[in-house]
Amino acid sequence: MAFSSTSTSTTTTTTFFLLLLLHSSCLFSLVFAKSRHTTAHSHSHSHSHSLSHSNPRLHKAYLALQAWKQVIYSDPKNFTTNWIGPSVCDYTGIYCATSLDKPHIQVVAGIDLNHGNIAGFLPNELGLLSDLALIHLNSNRFCGVLPDTLSNLTLLYELDLSNNRFVGKFPTVILSLPSLIYLDLRFNEFEGPLPPQLFNLGLDAIFVNNNRLYSVIPPTITSVTASVVVFANNNFGGCLPEGISKSADHLEELVLINTNLSGCLPWDIGLLYKIKVLDVSFNNLVGSIPYSIAGLVHVEQLNLAHNKMTGAIPAGVCALPNLQNFNASYNFFCEEEGLCLNLTSKGASFDDRRNCLPERPLQRRSKECDAALKHPVDCFEYHCETGYGASAQNMVGVSAPAPSPSTRS
Ligand SMILES: *[C@@H]1O[C@H](CO)[C@@H](O)[C@H](O)[C@H]1NC(C)=O
Ligand SMILES: *[C@@H]1O[C@H](CO)[C@@H](O)[C@H](O)[C@H]1NC(C)=O
Ligand SMILES: *[C@@H]1O[C@H](CO)[C@@H](O)[C@H](O)[C@H]1NC(C)=O
Ligand SMILES: *[C@@H]1O[C@H](CO)[C@@H](O)[C@H](O)[C@H]1NC(C)=O
Ligand SMILES: *[C@@H]1O[C@H](CO)[C@@H](O)[C@H](O)[C@H]1NC(C)=O
Repeated sequence: MAFSSTSTSTTTTTTFFLLLLLHSSCLFSLVFAKSRHTTAHSHSHSHSHSLSHSNPRLHKAYLALQAWKQVIYSDPKNFTTNWIGPSVCDYTGIYCATSLDKPHIQVVAGIDLNHGNIAGFLPNELGLLSDLALIHLNSNRFCGVLPDTLSNLTLLYELDLSNNRFVGKFPTVILSLPSLIYLDLRFNEFEGPLPPQLFNLGLDAIFVNNNRLYSVIPPTITSVTASVVVFANNNFGGCLPEGISKSADHLEELVLINTNLSGCLPWDIGLLYKIKVLDVSFNNLVGSIPYSIAGLVHVEQLNLAHNKMTGAIPAGVCALPNLQNFNASYNFFCEEEGLCLNLTSKGASFDDRRNCLPERPLQRRSKECDAALKHPVDCFEYHCETGYGASAQNMVGVSAPAPSPSTRS
């Protein structure tokens, strides 16, 4: 459920930035001209030819793309077949536009090889494409690591490498891209910790789900300025840090499905007044739902399923005005208000199966409930042990600020 809504938002974000760019710089007027060209099979290429007549930057792009073609070993859809000769603006998947700093010349501003199923590497020469604003390589078989020369792409604002076979540690070259806004690394094989700086880059969207990332969620997440953060299906462990409400002016989707989260939900999670999707399902969360959660006035999707949470489901949650889907199933909740049962009659979906609710159908057996409820976790007393202490510092190599109330701003 959260995945589908996430992909909708991805498209929205992408479109938004395309529009923004169109309005702000006309960078893409020629890109769209080109795609109209191709679909209409137009005969008149004279205009784009005169503009794309070679200049030193297009020559560098030519060198870069030829080097890339050398390390492409499989291209079943023939995307790169016409990557021959100096007219790089006519190559499939390569988009030219007028330069931002020299409006009379054409430069390579975008690469879109989405769904190419291409196998190969990214060569160092890609650093020569210093006018790139967009790289879309979604759904290919690119492998290996990202070249450090990508740090040369100072105009790059959208990087989508999702659904490829990139490996190794989180590619730190990304941290040096000053214009980056949209980062999508999902469905690759990146491993190890996330660099804490990732959340301080001013990105608007961060997708790192379905990798092999581990270690804790960096405490810097509390100051994230992104509207969409998706970590699902990694193995972070540790807690969601208290102080997350510092990101309240930005966060609209936080998806932490199956990330081995433990501990309590932080008390201030209810201050995320813009959030629409909050999905922490399939984790090891304990304790009760913080009462503050009744403050999530924009939440539409709230998924707490498959955790070890206890206590009552507060009426305030079920009264949330925009709630469309509330999943509390597979926990150890033992009390709920009649208001929650009314959610279904309001057209929202509500799932409370497999809890310890005495009056409700399809609950856990009392033996299971008794065992779990014998030692409930009091979230006021609980302090996240496995979180961002010594282990985080050792693994990430930076000193993590202690998330004590006194350091909260
Ligand atoms: C790609 O080119 C090869 C050789 O010209 C051809 O046999 C194949 O059918 C082409 N594939 C597609 C998807 O066009
Ligand atoms: C970085 O870009 C500049 C052009 O802006 C180019 O001259 C230089 O060779 C590039 N560096 C690398 C490492 O590709
Ligand atoms: C989950 O995280 C905890 C630390 O919070 C760690 O001890 C445990 O091994 C992790 N679980 C898995 C399946 O890796
Ligand atoms: C709630 O979550 C569980 C576990 O993922 C799932 O099986 C169930 O279909 C969900 N309920 C609804 C109403 O979506
Ligand atoms: C649930 O809805 C029914 C009818 O819409 C209403 O009479 C009842 O008071 C509601 N229950 C709660 C707890 O709000």
